[in-house]
Amino acid sequence: MVAATHQTSEGWSSRWAFILAAIGAAVGLGNVWRFPTLAGENGGGAFVLFYIGCVVLIGLPLVLSEILVGRAGRSDAVGSTRNVAAASGRSSRWAVLGWVEIITAFLIVSFYSVVAGWVFYYVGVMGVDFFGALASGDPFASAFQGEAAETVQGRLGGLLGNPWMLIAMHVVFMGVTFWVVASGVHDGIEKAAIWLMPAFFVLLIGITIYGAVVGDMTETLAFMFQPDFSRLTAQAMNEALGQALFSMSLGSAALMTYGAYVSRETKLAPTAAMIAFADTGVAIIAGLMIFPIVFAVGLDPAAGPTLVFQSLPVAFQQMPAGSLIGFLFFVLIFFAALTSSISLLEGPTSWGINERGWSRGKSAGIFAFCAFLIGVLCALGYNILSDVRPLGFWNIFAEADILDTVDGFTGKVMLPVAALLTAIFVGWRADKKLVENESGLEGAMFGVWRFLVAWVSPIAVGLILVFGLFPGLVPQ
Ligand code: PHE
Repeated sequence: MVAATHQTSEGWSSRWAFILAAIGAAVGLGNVWRFPTLAGENGGGAFVLFYIGCVVLIGLPLVLSEILVGRAGRSDAVGSTRNVAAASGRSSRWAVLGWVEIITAFLIVSFYSVVAGWVFYYVGVMGVDFFGALASGDPFASAFQGEAAETVQGRLGGLLGNPWMLIAMHVVFMGVTFWVVASGVHDGIEKAAIWLMPAFFVLLIGITIYGAVVGDMTETLAFMFQPDFSRLTAQAMNEALGQALFSMSLGSAALMTYGAYVSRETKLAPTAAMIAFADTGVAIIAGLMIFPIVFAVGLDPAAGPTLVFQSLPVAFQQMPAGSLIGFLFFVLIFFAALTSSISLLEGPTSWGINERGWSRGKSAGIFAFCAFLIGVLCALGYNILSDVRPLGFWNIFAEADILDTVDGFTGKVMLPVAALLTAIFVGWRADKKLVENESGLEGAMFGVWRFLVAWVSPIAVGLILVFGLFPGLVPQ
């Protein structure tokens, strides 16, 4: 540990509490909604393989780096980077890394809550359908009986066109997130993870088995694991790396902040591996859960972001027990999204507590409210403000509405910048002995890990950042 100011006094009650909370942070909309969408859009197999490569070579080493900085610094992301820099005899300006991460987290939670609000809406829609079926004595009915497929698909458009409904769902989701974070590390964040994550895993396995039984697993396996490398464009690689960072909650203060609450006894390396493994496993299982259902009813795996909200409800309409499974499916995504948004809000909240001396409730309240307001703009971007293109002057964001702009800017610019800074800081600037002790790795293992952090990550992330921002430079 490094001696420094502004240190937190909070902590997890056990190693497992930390592991569940960190897996809860990592597993979210990114795994269940975005990963299958991206894999579908980018041709499946080759994308999945490249993604796994990013996780092993870049993601996993950085997960350990972030947790390590948090535990060594024992503060919020800004305070921890400052403390570790001081203990390493480096400039306090390294706190900029913490700043980038906290601002990124704040921006992500603003739109994350809006999309999670759609999930919440679908929990309601499917819930009404299921409890209706239950009341009429047929709990295993398929969903939306007697409705035209267009009506089922039209729900998403109806929701996006309705600013009040969008904002109402967003309020509820942000409110719950605030409430959990305000309740504290021990009584809020940890409790939520301990209840929601096991429930999530049970649902995930259950629905995947359902999909394997009634859906088309053969086609799914071919789709997800037969690589067609001609589909692996520079654009796809860029998306894969960005997705790996987002999915593992890198570059957005979550892991650093959660790391600060980890006890000295916990061995960080195996814990980091567990988090990376669980996150990637869930992304792949989510594909194995969703695509058999999509293929069973002949839908398009490349439907894009509407895959989960439009294609799947139509599939549930044609599947046995579709009403029940559809309801459970959205409950599952809801749980995943909630434990992630909690971790997103915790980063800025802990900054307010440690650096400003605010109470936890006040800090969480201020950030939740400000993020809520940005989220409202994102929500209005689907209706009243649908002509607004906030970064329309920049070719890669020219078409992006408000939500896509905040999403794209954080994902394509801020997350890679934060990852790059983390790699340089931990790989080159932080004191080597301090890093070695904190990592718990020894000998060759430490050497391999440090090589990945110091060389592989910065080069790979740097390339992807440049090519992502200037697609014109990509060799064709
Ligand atoms: N990892 C989460 C997901 O996959 C999102 C997230 C990003 C959470 C950054 C915390 C920090 O949905």
